[in-house]
Formats: sequence, structure tokens, C-alpha cells
Amino acid sequence: MMLTDYSRIVVAYDHSELSKKALKMAMNLAKQDNIIQLYVVTVMQPIRPLPYSTYGYALAINRESQDKEFQAIRDEIELELKELPNKSKIVLLEGLPGQMIVEFVKEYDGDLVVMGSRGLSGLKELFLGSVSHFVVQKAPCPVFIVK
Ligand SMILES: Nc1ncnc2c1ncn2[C@@H]1O[C@H](COP(=O)(O)OP(=O)(O)OP(=O)(O)O)[C@@H](O)[C@H]1O
Ligand SMILES: [Mg+2]
Repeated sequence: MMLTDYSRIVVAYDHSELSKKALKMAMNLAKQDNIIQLYVVTVMQPIRPLPYSTYGYALAINRESQDKEFQAIRDEIELELKELPNKSKIVLLEGLPGQMIVEFVKEYDGDLVVMGSRGLSGLKELFLGSVSHFVVQKAPCPVFIVK
């Protein structure tokens, strides 16, 4: 099995410690061969309008703070990727994380996903969180789970 069979690596990044570890792991894989490209994908949950309200203003504030949050995550990823000579791309998607990650992998022909076993929620009873569980089941390619 050649590492270059995995030339389009998708990293699922939610800013959790394990997703940071997953990014480092994927970067180490990528450093083995210049042909490997990295896609670092972060999925934002859509902001749902609250019922019975004139919440346009509140929504605008939410949208703004979400944009700021993503900008901070993006800066953090960019800083990390700076030392990588390979081609890489930071991608923001909106929707259900598991579904969006799988759709992205299909659309962009990803051939390996690297992600954490758990993410931000921090509940430790289960080995896999709901997002990693979903992606392992539905991804069309191998999934590398960092723990
Ligand atoms: N919104 C997201 N965008 C990109 N990757 C994500 C996102 N959420 C989770 N991931 C990826 O999935 C891995 C596992 O996180 P997951 O969300 O499944 O576990 P959890 O947060 O501990 O539990 P849960 O979200 O089910 O309550 C993370 O380390 C990260 O690689
Ligand atoms: Mg989570």
C-alpha cells in the first residue's frame, strides 16, 4: 500500500484537541509526498431562527459572532499549515457536520479522512462521537481515527 494512494486527504476540524492532533497527523502524512493535498474542513451548525420573535437583530449578532469564531479557527489552521509545503485548502461548510463532511469527501474525491474519535462535547463514555461515528459508516474511503 503506497501512501500516495491517499493523495487527497480530508481533515475534519472542529477545533477540539483531538482534531488538532488529527491535523498534525495528516500533515505528517502529507510531508511524505508532495503530491498529497490537504483539505481542512470545518462545519458550522446553521443558526436556526427562534420562533415567535423579531429576532433579526439577534440573528445578525449570532451570525457575526459565528463569523468571528470561524475566522479565529481559520487563523489557527492557517498558522499550523504554514510550515507545510504541500497544497492545502481550508474549507468552511454549513449544515450537519457528519453529512457535510461525507458530501465533501464525495464531491472532492477525497481518498482518506483523518479525524478525532471525540470532539468538542467532551462526553467520554462512548469511544466515538456522533460525527466520527457517522463518517466512519458513510464515507466512501478509509477513515483514520485519531485518539
Ligand atoms: N463541526 C465539525 N466540523 C468538522 N469536523 C468535526 C465537527 N464536529 C466533529 N468533527 C470531527 O469529528 C471528530 C469527533 O467529534 P464528534 O463531534 O463526533 O464527538 P463529540 O463532540 O465528542 O460528540 P458529539 O458531537 O457527538 O456530542 C472531531 O475530533 C473532529 O475531527
Ligand atoms: Mg461534536
